[in-house]
Amino acid sequence: MATSVMVFHPHMEHSRANRALMDAAAQVPGTVVRDMYAQYPDFRIDVARERAIAADADLIVFQFPLYWYSAPALLKEWEDAVFEVDGSSLEGRRMLLAVTAGGKLEDYAEDGKQGATMAQVLQPYRMTANYLGMRFEEPLLLHHAHRIADDDLAAVAGRYADLLR
Ligand SMILES: Cc1cc2nc3c(=O)[nH]c(=O)nc-3n(C[C@H](O)[C@H](O)[C@H](O)COP(=O)(O)O)c2cc1C
Repeated sequence: MATSVMVFHPHMEHSRANRALMDAAAQVPGTVVRDMYAQYPDFRIDVARERAIAADADLIVFQFPLYWYSAPALLKEWEDAVFEVDGSSLEGRRMLLAVTAGGKLEDYAEDGKQGATMAQVLQPYRMTANYLGMRFEEPLLLHHAHRIADDDLAAVAGRYADLLR
């Protein structure tokens, strides 16, 4: 079965971190990588098509920059339109998040500057995966995204590609 990587970045043309991750994912055989804002600039999601792609995938990847401790709006729209409340259609699939964040790793702690861990920030996705009977994989996190050194960015992109293999 295929891996479906959906990249939700409203300004891919200005992206460095998500661009590097997207390029790394695209090198992995069996992986279909899509720029979702390019696909649905008007937010009119083709629900039947998205459900078919998701049903065909063993691993469903949501890749996005963290915006206000959440995802860019199109991912929420995609979830609301594509996931089914009766829940059964994606049972047994795996969900992987690949998230870039401006904040530093050490700041994402309950007693840190951000006041919560990244696991706490991403809890709604874990809960959604659980509700849908999907396995929630350990997220791939890229911190300090706007300042990360080229070498470190390449290392995270390499880890991402390994996870997708
Ligand atoms: C509207 C907006 C909201 C953001 N909110 C957060 C946030 O809540 N936490 C955080 O760590 N970084 C936040 N950032 C920083 C982005 O996550 C960061 O710029 C992005 O991950 C860089 O990836 P890119 O090079 O692919 O654009 C925000 C950036 C923007 C533009």
